Order: sequence, then structure tokens, then C-alpha cells
Amino acid sequence: MSNIKFFSGEQIPLEMHKVRIVQKLNLQPVEKRLKAITEAGNNTFLLKNRDVFMDMLTDSGVNAMSDRQLGAMMVADDSYAGSETFFRLKEKITDIFGFEHFLPAHQGRACENIIAQTLVKPGNIIPMNYHFTTTRAHFVLNGGTVEELIIDEGLEVISNHPFKGNICADKLRHCIDKHGAENIPFVRMEAGTNLIGGQPFSLENLEEVQELCKENKILLVLDASLLADNLHFIKVREEQCRELSIREITKRISDLCDIIYFSGRKLGCARGGGICIRDEKIFAQMKEFVTLYEGFLTYGGMSVREIEAMTIGLEETMDEEVINQGPEFIAFMAEELQRGGVPVITPPGGLGCHINAMKFVSHIPQEQYPAGALAAAIYIAGGIRGMERGTLSEERNSDGSEHPADMELVRLALPRRVFTLSQVKYAADRIIWLYKNRHLIEGLTFVEEPRILRFFTGKLKPVSNWQEKLVSAFRDDFGDSL
Ligand code: F0G
Repeated sequence: MSNIKFFSGEQIPLEMHKVRIVQKLNLQPVEKRLKAITEAGNNTFLLKNRDVFMDMLTDSGVNAMSDRQLGAMMVADDSYAGSETFFRLKEKITDIFGFEHFLPAHQGRACENIIAQTLVKPGNIIPMNYHFTTTRAHFVLNGGTVEELIIDEGLEVISNHPFKGNICADKLRHCIDKHGAENIPFVRMEAGTNLIGGQPFSLENLEEVQELCKENKILLVLDASLLADNLHFIKVREEQCRELSIREITKRISDLCDIIYFSGRKLGCARGGGICIRDEKIFAQMKEFVTLYEGFLTYGGMSVREIEAMTIGLEETMDEEVINQGPEFIAFMAEELQRGGVPVITPPGGLGCHINAMKFVSHIPQEQYPAGALAAAIYIAGGIRGMERGTLSEERNSDGSEHPADMELVRLALPRRVFTLSQVKYAADRIIWLYKNRHLIEGLTFVEEPRILRFFTGKLKPVSNWQEKLVSAFRDDFGDSL
């Protein structure tokens, strides 16, 4: 994808696949979009698909599958125990990551539950580059405290640092000295750091972290859910890896880790998850949780069809021409938006295009959820469903006060191989229009607020009638167009 030059000189990412199955989409008129988002409590998670034109909520479980994945699903070996399908996946895991032990789980957070219940004890500290929502919730539920040790550049919205997902080795050293290695069950590194804009870590950084872990006899756990994007960035941005194949880079990464877990809804473009483990004793402990929470050891809550698809998907992840599609489409969209003045996270990362709501709607205070308000406005403007990744996605402090997020982002995910370039251009066009009309956007306030992971199902309302004003501005500029 990256090697194709256009005679015109334009930089256009060219798809290295063709589309053979399609799904019809609807684009509702703007008035209907206002009605839909109102009914959804201004929470894009609660919109119905029939009202969504471009579903950019997530890449989770919605990446396009390949013909080989679909074909493999037809030959799955369906049995409760001992399925051949599982052994094919296990062999693939050993082949790619070099781990002997593998436990299946129904999705990424199920792996986190098992890891947390096995390894996290009350009072433990878990250092990491950055948390993910479900990860932190599981570690905290088991009495642990998360310490985020991302390098300072990681939280700078505009940067040219190629590896904003790196952990700061000095902060890690200090954290180990302060809390004592005996209180730290493991260090967690997240590939393609989700909440700070899909930003990668470098192999060099992981090597440094592993050195520190080894010195202090602390386990190193990798969340590989977004590994595909991270592998691509290591290949194209890290000097020492330029000549290595994706498979070689993967092996170098996995050789450093004691445990690797992943959401198969992202890695491998299927659905499910799993944990790769080196230590025999930990494997034995985790096994019991799999049978308790997930299912038998040879399916772990997944359908065998999905397991077959995951096996092929993991193999396809080893192909740079497959995994570069996401990051290159994201970079294209980020550049289009920047040309229109829209503030986005730079450098563009993986997973999706991340809009900086703190700047886009700088007039909205964090207590009124600027990123949530912007996500609702983007849906009204274009039928585009993104996801709030800001204060709404945080939990309140124990005294009930808001915990303002480090960043206020609207994530517009680009599920792999799903959208065409004209759809990406449409999304950018509508968001640029919204940016010109940003003064019309105001905040949101809760109507129904769940206690845990409130962003999934909470309901909000606008603080004024700003959404009606936005619809009438849309009609003024676009006439009777959808
Ligand atoms: N770790 C990371 C880095 C993730 O991005 C996710 C999910 C999980 C763990 C949990 O995996 O959903 O299979 O249980 N991220 C999704 C998202 C939800 O939309 O970014 P899961």
C-alpha cells in the first residue's frame, strides 16, 4: 500500500484487496439524526445501526474478514472438548509468538479478568504505559492500583514523537523503588495504546522495560489487542527494525514477554481472545478460571468458527500489506482533517482518527463532557458514529467529584478494510463543516449515570437547545441534501 506512487504526485493509500461482499447503508436526513441521538441519550453507544451511516465507533469485532477466514469457518471442528480447530489455533500461537501455553477466552476483558484474579492482590501496584478502561476496572476490582508511566510526549496532543506509547524507564525505576518489587506483580505494556490515540511503543522501549522487569523479578505482560498497528509502526518508524519482517519483529517482541493476551475482536480480525503464558504454575492457576468463567479449555467461550477465523487472521497479521491498511487510511483522514483546520492527534496512530475535542470545542468545560458533546454533534452533522474518549469514559472520584481526563478525544475508528476512500472523504468533509460551526456546540449533562463504566449505557441531554441550532445551520448550508 505504501509503495505505490501516483503519477499525479498525490499521496493516496491504495487498497491491496477487493470487495466481494457488501452491506447496504442508510443515510438518514439531519432531522432524523437529531431525533435518533436524542433517543439515544446523546450516547453514541445507544444509537441503532439503522440510523448510522458510517459506524466509526470501534474496530472491535467489525473488521472485514478475508475470503480465507470465511472459508476456514466452514471447516471448523465443532465439539465441546478436544476440537481440532482449537489445536490449529494453538499451533499458530506457538508458531507466531513462541509460547507453549495458550488459554482461550471469549474476549479481551475476559483475559483481563483471569489475569487480575490470578495475579493482582489487594495493595498491589500495576505500572503500565497507559490504562484501558476495562483493564483498569478489573485490576482495581481486585484491589490493585494502576500507575501510568507513559513518556511525557504521550500526553502531548501535537507531537512528532514516533513512539508516544513508550513507557518512561525513569518513572518505572522510580515506581519500583517507591513501592518495592514485591508489591508489583507485573508491568503491563499495551500495544497501540488505545486511549491516547492508538500510539505505538518501540521495540527498543520494550527491551528497556524487560531489562528492568528482569532485574527486579517482575513479570512483563503485553496487551497485544492492537499489536497489528504497533507492528506496522515499528517496521516503518524504528531504524533497527526496517530490515526485519513483521514475523521477526513479532518474535522479538514476544521473546521479551512473560504473558501476552489479546482481544481477538481486534487482533486477527475475528472475535474472541486468549492468553499466552510461559510459567507452568501461572498456567495451572489460570486454567481453572477459564473453565469457571469461559468454557472448556478448547473453546473458552468462543464459537469454533471464530477460532478458525482467528487462526487465519493471526497469520494474515504477519503480512505488512494487510496490516498497513488501517494506519494508512487513518493518516489520510488525519491529513484531510488538518487541511480543514481540525485539531487531531499527531502523529496519527492506529485504530482510528482521533479528534482533539479540548481544542475543537475549547469553550466547553470538562464537567460538560466536550468530547461527548462533539461525538453527538458529529453524528448529527454526518450520521457518523464515533466514540467519546475523555472525561465521560472516566469513573468519578470516590467523593463523587468528576475525574477530568488527561485528554478529551473523539475517536473515529477505521475498522480494517471496511470503508472506501470516498466515505473517508465524506466524513472529513462533514467534520470540517462542523469545525467551521463549532461555536454552536455546547455541553451535555447526565440524566442517567451508571456507577461502573458509565460511558457504555449512560444517558445525557444537551445543556441548551444547541442541537436544534446545529440542524438549522446544516439546512442553511446543505439545502435539501442529506
Ligand atoms: N485492551 C485493549 C487495548 C482494548 O482496546 C480492548 C477493547 C480491550 C483490551 C478489551 O477487549 O473488548 O475484546 O473485551 N477495546 C474496544 C475498543 C472495546 O472499542 O477500543 P474486549
